[in-house]
Amino acid sequence: MTTVKILPERSSTMQHADGYLEIVLHSRLTSKFVGILCDAGFPCEPIGEGIFRCFGSSDIIANIVSKQPDIETQRYLDHYLLVFSLDAGVRQHVVDIFFEHIATEYEKRIDLERNRANVCNLLNFLKISGMRDRSLVVDYGCGTGISANVSIQYAWRIVGVDRCHVMRSIAASKGMTVLAPVDISQAYPAGVDAAFCSYVLHLVFDLSDIKILWDSLRVGGILVANFHKGSGESRLTEFFTSLGAQIGEPCVVDDKYQHGLYRSYVKD
Ligand SMILES: C[S@@+](CC[C@H](N)C(=O)[O-])C[C@H]1O[C@@H](n2cnc3c(N)ncnc32)[C@H](O)[C@@H]1O
Repeated sequence: MTTVKILPERSSTMQHADGYLEIVLHSRLTSKFVGILCDAGFPCEPIGEGIFRCFGSSDIIANIVSKQPDIETQRYLDHYLLVFSLDAGVRQHVVDIFFEHIATEYEKRIDLERNRANVCNLLNFLKISGMRDRSLVVDYGCGTGISANVSIQYAWRIVGVDRCHVMRSIAASKGMTVLAPVDISQAYPAGVDAAFCSYVLHLVFDLSDIKILWDSLRVGGILVANFHKGSGESRLTEFFTSLGAQIGEPCVVDDKYQHGLYRSYVKD
């Protein structure tokens, strides 16, 4: 179990007033980072396997962590810092810990209207690209199933796919059919017509999941996605290109929010 190091001179009121950051990382790195932050005067407490809370200025804490060697960090939703070592499998593990941790709070933490607007854009792209009634469409990285309400205007069969079982059960509670990525091909051996990824692909490091999705897409099928702040776009576009995809740039319909780059990948 992680060592708890709360510095005695800080009262909980003071900790609260100063702010905090929740740090998500591979559990084998926990004691190292707790030690570094406590030595720098920022008390820490464990929240769960691979997560601890650090009290103090979130910007300063993030700055201290991001200066450590052999890691990359990503700030998320103000109060979270994801710490990635350079191994893709470990990165995905950190993403998994994070979403399991925030799943029940997810919709309160995000700007729900922004994500809904993005799902609308992606569904609109699919409509323009010629989806027919009863088409089978995967909401890949469906999270809590935001698309369940947004998609009712389309006569498509939407299936939510997510690695996180907590996210899947919340989406299922909204009436969505849900699956883990590994189960797509078995569930739909004849293939799916399309897929969309809303605020997902910048966080996907395990490309074997994406390969399963791609293999399940029928020939002529299309995958559309946004890349938050452009992050992950070149990595994923390179991957889809290696699989023979035709790359496109769907037009953006709403400009109220900045959803990042949009891309479409068509299976030849
Ligand atoms: C930021 S949330 C987006 C949820 C939803 N699409 C939205 O727009 O609000 C990212 C989701 O992707 C899921 N995810 C992360 N990596 C994944 C992977 N390799 N395969 C499938 N889902 C993944 C997470 O569990 C999480 O539910």
